[in-house]
Amino acid sequence: MKVLVIGGGAREHALCRSLSQDPAVTELHCAPGNAGIAQVATVHPVDQLDGAAVAALARRLGSDLVVVGPEAPLVAGVSDAVRAAGIPVFGPSGEAAQLEGSKAFAKDVMAGAGVPTARSYVCTTEAEAAEALDAFGAPYVVKDDGLAAGKGVVVTADRAEALAHAVSCDRVVIEEYLDGPEVSLFAITDGVTVLPLVPAQDFKRALDGDQGPNTGGMGAYSPLPWAPEGLVQEVLETVLQPTVDELRHRGTPFSGLLYAGLALTSRGTRVIEFNARFGDPETQVVLARLRTPLAGVLLAAAEGTLDTLEPLRWDEGAAVTVVIASEGYPAAPRTGDPIDGLDAVEAEGAYVLHAGTAAGPAGEVLSAGGRVLSVTAAGADLAEARELAYRGVARISLKGGQHRTDIALKAAQ
Ligand code: AMP
Ligand code: GLY
Repeated sequence: MKVLVIGGGAREHALCRSLSQDPAVTELHCAPGNAGIAQVATVHPVDQLDGAAVAALARRLGSDLVVVGPEAPLVAGVSDAVRAAGIPVFGPSGEAAQLEGSKAFAKDVMAGAGVPTARSYVCTTEAEAAEALDAFGAPYVVKDDGLAAGKGVVVTADRAEALAHAVSCDRVVIEEYLDGPEVSLFAITDGVTVLPLVPAQDFKRALDGDQGPNTGGMGAYSPLPWAPEGLVQEVLETVLQPTVDELRHRGTPFSGLLYAGLALTSRGTRVIEFNARFGDPETQVVLARLRTPLAGVLLAAAEGTLDTLEPLRWDEGAAVTVVIASEGYPAAPRTGDPIDGLDAVEAEGAYVLHAGTAAGPAGEVLSAGGRVLSVTAAGADLAEARELAYRGVARISLKGGQHRTDIALKAAQ
């Protein structure tokens, strides 16, 4: 099977790593990729938002499957262009990807499907926003309606800050605050059958102890030893399957990866958000535990035959990933610095997945984005996986680089 992956972050590196280990994959390509992906796949330049260009590349490569990684090309309809070219694609249509592209659309789908989520108002004026803030009270939750790479959400006790964020966006969703731990649960679906993966937890805040601004995610781990028994089945029945069914009944079937961001509140499980693609950095730990070869699963989702698959097989152990971000992330990341020590990580029992990296003129690896890379390790349990991941992190040096030191710490204790 010849597979083309679209994207160039750590999620795509994790996908390419798994696909490169799948004996069914005879050729692996990635566009645009990054410096790390180039070690496991043939990389090609492409404008990943240009559906016609992606479809033409897939045709030229004779791809049997295209996997669209990030949300921006999905929302731009890149999957539609590839599908229209007659090539199986893992990733929802542009319309179905609105589940992530518009928070207001997601709320509407959840209402139609009876899926539990925070009560919310969609606001377009300052007066509406002020009224909604006061209706719920502090802590305030204000979300930019459109795509914002995980940075469009402000959660604050400061009413003025909440209102200022609302005013700075065209349209916002203001909602009730959900207390309780967060869980990310991914499911692979062909629009009918839903196959949940294993739960993971992401660390959204930039600093230790969940302080600092929201980011795209600073680390993750799986499994969640503290999660209630039966959680996956409950979320399948109350969230994932009803959402997939609702989208199909609306005439916008969703195939690809459905990501449920959940809060386990004192009043039950609630959806915080949906994404229409694999989460980053959770994918790094979920795929680290997947034993079933990946390509056949993604192809079955693309071709609508998930119901014929054997149950997925998982490693009983644990996986931890720690993100190294550049100085100034998330507000103003600095780029262009050399990254040293990459070759020393594997000797520590961990591996590097590149996110924002680029090859320098002398073949050195340079930082090229906010989240630069993530160091991932598997172990018999969380304590071991954590130990190995942090040993790997310690080998890497990047000027001004920052990482959290408490990823999976509480769960491992
Ligand atoms: P989102 O982009 O919707 O995932 O939001 C980013 C982060 O903001 C989430 O992972 C939560 O940590 C936080 N957040 C979002 N919505 C709420 C909410 N209703 N209550 C509490 N925290 C929230
Ligand atoms: N880990 C958060 C996200 O992928 O949106």
